Amino acid sequence: MTTLTIMPSATVMAVEEGDNLLAAMLASGARVGHKCDGGAACGQCHLFVLEGRKGLSKTTREENEILDTIVGVGSKSRLPCRVTILGTEDVTVEVLSFV
Ligand code: FES
Repeated sequence: MTTLTIMPSATVMAVEEGDNLLAAMLASGARVGHKCDGGAACGQCHLFVLEGRKGLSKTTREENEILDTIVGVGSKSRLPCRVTILGTEDVTVEVLSFV
């Protein structure tokens, strides 16, 4: 078990290996845009990983293709609907869109 911290609300929650990052965030009550419900089509869930990148699954080609269509993408960008928590280190993310 590792810890997920969601900024800017500073919500801290326990997560397990294999958890989907977006699902974990929504379960915590975080307000994250997810118009396509995790289909990697809308880009609304875009966030920055501030710490613990190695605690998350690697970026896939599909995720990169969607990220390439979003304004404001940087080296810390991920789509949490495409990310699996590996459980190897604590993770901190910054939500960029709100619903
Ligand atoms: S929920 Fe639509 S891309 Fe992640």
